[in-house]
Amino acid sequence: MQFVIKSGAVEKQKTACLVLPVQKAKLSDSAQAINDAGEGALAAILKRGDLSFKAGKTLLLQHSPETAADRMLLAALSEKAEAISEADFIKMAKATAANLKGLTAKDATIALEGVEVKGRDIQWQARQMVEAVIYEFYRFVEYKSEAGEAPALTKVTLLVDRKHTDEASAGKDQGLAIAEGRNLARRLGDMPGNDCHPTYLAELAKEMAKGQSKLTTKVLGEAEMTKLGMHSLLSVGQASVQESRLIMMEYKGGKKNDAPVVLLGKGITFDTGGISLKPGAGMDEMKYDMCGSASVFGAMQAIVAMGLEMNVVGMVAAAENMPAGNASRPGDIVKSMSGQTIEILNTDAEGRLVLCDALTYAGETYKPKAIVDIATLTGACIIALGHHITGLISNNDDLVDELMTASKDAADKAWQLPMGEEFQAQLDSNFADMANIGGRPAGTITAGCFLSRFVEDTPWAHLDIAGTAWTSGKNKGATGRPVPMLVQYLLNQLEK
Ligand code: BES
Ligand code: MN
Ligand code: ZN
Repeated sequence: MQFVIKSGAVEKQKTACLVLPVQKAKLSDSAQAINDAGEGALAAILKRGDLSFKAGKTLLLQHSPETAADRMLLAALSEKAEAISEADFIKMAKATAANLKGLTAKDATIALEGVEVKGRDIQWQARQMVEAVIYEFYRFVEYKSEAGEAPALTKVTLLVDRKHTDEASAGKDQGLAIAEGRNLARRLGDMPGNDCHPTYLAELAKEMAKGQSKLTTKVLGEAEMTKLGMHSLLSVGQASVQESRLIMMEYKGGKKNDAPVVLLGKGITFDTGGISLKPGAGMDEMKYDMCGSASVFGAMQAIVAMGLEMNVVGMVAAAENMPAGNASRPGDIVKSMSGQTIEILNTDAEGRLVLCDALTYAGETYKPKAIVDIATLTGACIIALGHHITGLISNNDDLVDELMTASKDAADKAWQLPMGEEFQAQLDSNFADMANIGGRPAGTITAGCFLSRFVEDTPWAHLDIAGTAWTSGKNKGATGRPVPMLVQYLLNQLEK
């Protein structure tokens, strides 16, 4: 999809589809111009009442005689005259993208001039619009013999006031980088476990670094991890034919000695549960258990595309959790790289087992200024926050503030859950330094408590995306969350 920023008279735009956002109580500058050109035709159509003015509603006019456009899509913003909310703008953007997908129009022009969003500028609007279109036009058809027809649209023009073209351009570029990164994360998530395994992810990381002077990829295999004492991580993949990998994508866009931010993703390329085997129904969805690492790949791709002037390390702890004769048994005790011993009471609580050694490695190797891990860690997080909101647990209030701000800026929702001594006690083991499960109560929090034991003084945050990384049912597919929030967090760091 090609995106262009343009300014000019809206009624004179030659386009297959002109998208006109409308409010009931006020015609925007663009709507006014079109109404004038048609001698009041637009106002008359709106008055007829076929278009409800609730954000997300649309009305397609198959021809648009008073303008140079072939068709016109009226996209509702609100009933009221005042500036609209972020949520309403995003609803309008999504509805617009979905409508455009169903048309034979090869290009569209979206008139953003005169649209006002509370507290947000044109850059934000342009970015959201680009993100919505790229999200909607994602296709995953590589595994189908008949791919079906691709949507016709190939070019989107954002029409803005002349004085806003630079801002809109910046928003468009950010939107492109973030949305393409997000779609990479979706693609990796949607790939089946037989093709998307730890070695595949390692090769992809190497591929991404090719020809990129700022990006270097390092991969640790099982032999190297054994030497480092990562017996917790290695225990998870020990019964799989697929070898485990620890992948580091080092991006150096900042000063040589600046401490990096580490993004660490859970990369369980398939989670059967191991000997603590999961029930069969819906188990296919455990191919999505690498979505944390997919979001790290997506964020890294976006960072490279934007050339951010900072240092970031994208880490992926990749393994496949399988049952077999050489699998971990409940009750097994392993020693982590940190020296702490872990009693594996449930082999299905494997995410924390791979992440803990990766956290130790990250702290020792990079002395990072912050670590953010991203993981489809607990079913309990879905019970707590549903499929709408990512869980956030941290040892540092400033980092929480930064991530929550990023979450709001990027419209990628997160909510903090607490940690504390009371919860830590649930991990007590009779035989080792800790157990890998803390019982059913507060399952997301005790998982976070477990991870916190492997970070020392480094500001650290954990994002549990079990509920937000993919959708089930008829529209089964990866969402690419929380790529927008992660990239926004890094962008905001640059402003400081
Ligand atoms: N990958 C799962 C968590 C999960 C389950 C994410 C369903 C999304 C949907 C994780 O490895 C797991 O199995 N966690 C266990 C932990 C429990 C044994 C303490 C869980 O949530 O049941
Ligand atoms: Mn599991
Ligand atoms: Zn898992």
